[in-house]
Amino acid sequence: MADAPRTVALLGAGVIGGGWAARFVLHGVDVRLFDPSADAALAVRDTVERGRRAWRRLTLAPMPAEGTLTIVDSVEEAVAGVDLVQESAPEREELKVALLAHASAAAPARAIIATSTSGLLPTRLAAEIDGPERFVVGHPFNPVYLLPLVEVCAAERTAAETVTRAAAIYESVAMRPLIVRHEVDGFIADRLLEALWREALWLVADDLATAEEIDDAIRYGPGLRWAAMGTFLTYRLAGGEAGMRHFMAQFGPALQLPWTHLTDVPELTDELLNAIVTQSDAQADGRSIAELRRIRDDCLVATLRGLKGAGYGAGEVMALTERELFERAGDLTPTTRAPLPDGRLRLHEVLVEPSWIDYNGHMTEYRYLEVMADTTDAFLREVGIVGPYIDAGRSYYTVETHIRHLGEAHGGERLYVATRLLGHDAKRLHLWHELRRDTDDELIATGEHLLLHVDRAAGKTTPAAPEIIAALEQIAAAQRDLPAPEGAGNSVRGPRLQAA
Ligand SMILES: NC(=O)c1ccc[n+]([C@@H]2O[C@H](COP(=O)([O-])OP(=O)(O)OC[C@H]3O[C@@H](n4cnc5c(N)ncnc54)[C@H](O)[C@@H]3O)[C@@H](O)[C@H]2O)c1
Repeated sequence: MADAPRTVALLGAGVIGGGWAARFVLHGVDVRLFDPSADAALAVRDTVERGRRAWRRLTLAPMPAEGTLTIVDSVEEAVAGVDLVQESAPEREELKVALLAHASAAAPARAIIATSTSGLLPTRLAAEIDGPERFVVGHPFNPVYLLPLVEVCAAERTAAETVTRAAAIYESVAMRPLIVRHEVDGFIADRLLEALWREALWLVADDLATAEEIDDAIRYGPGLRWAAMGTFLTYRLAGGEAGMRHFMAQFGPALQLPWTHLTDVPELTDELLNAIVTQSDAQADGRSIAELRRIRDDCLVATLRGLKGAGYGAGEVMALTERELFERAGDLTPTTRAPLPDGRLRLHEVLVEPSWIDYNGHMTEYRYLEVMADTTDAFLREVGIVGPYIDAGRSYYTVETHIRHLGEAHGGERLYVATRLLGHDAKRLHLWHELRRDTDDELIATGEHLLLHVDRAAGKTTPAAPEIIAALEQIAAAQRDLPAPEGAGNSVRGPRLQAA
């Protein structure tokens, strides 16, 4: 992640402009936004709030202090003093050409002038730009605050340095720029989406499948694979051990079959439009756009979190982003990492989200372990188990856990964890976490954990590095006078099987 720009101008505050606003603001960039429609500009605050909610669920990493969102009345005011102008006005060539010309004449000479166009040719859009060498396409995907992909495409007169700078700016707000090397209609992603979309319309037009059936055909199957691997790598696996050559030999002949309509487009008659709208209404099943957006965002968050665990595809971007956010914030924000007056560490806090509640109305069981494990991670970062140390193959593994459930946590409550180091030696770490409600300090649960220091490359436990031991000594010294916590060292007490 490069350094983020200080201020960007957004022109257009619709679906995409709003999404850009959320992404930039949440990653600490000040936004100056212009849209001739006052309603659109105001709706952006809701989009930023949606983005905030999504990122809260996506990561525990401390986000930078939010940027400001300033809604202005003119293009000139928007572009004054910015590093990047991102245009997201309606997809009409003449409108964009005029707007980009106007914005580029008013913007600082060094500012990059970017457009979100989905597929208009960059060189045509750059026709009247003041300083065409700094113009570039930055084509994002909806919702912009969650999807990392942004296609970056140069126009004929774009300087190579502009592409590099634009890509670095997008990377700085946790995106994955894909450089489109040739100026082609629809770039890369929309060409693929268009092909699928044509075929979907034909299936409805020919009355072969409904909107819902077509979506089911994607979301229960190929869509899951696409999220991780796209189309080529997926097909490579479809070829089995023999790989791509075998796959092509087996399925290549099918390409000759008349399975698809390719570039034919069904005529958008009233009948077809009515069919699509009616089927789409039926599929939404009374759910509002707001509700569907929330479902979409929650599912994207779940997918991104899952991919992050696998460290693959968009998950790799998430994992790197998270690591950088932790490193930049010096591990944790000052309010959460401050030691408590008695020397215990306050390293982690959580809001009990609605989705954490089980049928009893309390926080569901596995979330306790998640909170404890996240606190252990925070403790490890605190003592220096971070980037280079982990990259060298060294870290701690948890080998034993004992959680006691003592109180009830309900939805919407804020909890914090107080952590003690009960003991340590060269290889072992004995931690004690107390999960408490923030408002009244009630003890909700305790977690006791034993961890071993390992060297993954050597495949065995090894002594921790001296600087880690020194950090542990410091914490132990600060907690030396605390009495042993009640319940520490307990095993599970309950009826046992009688020996026969
Ligand atoms: N919707 C998508 O999924 C998507 C995805 C990627 C890229 N895009 C591209 O992003 C751009 C915007 O698309 P959208 O879906 O947000 O459209 P939209 O209709 O939701 O928003 C367009 C906004 O631009 C405003 N506008 C009109 N004239 C303007 C002007 N002269 N100056 C500034 N703002 C003006 C409108 O008031 C409106 O709020 C298009 O180029 C589109 O191709 C859209």
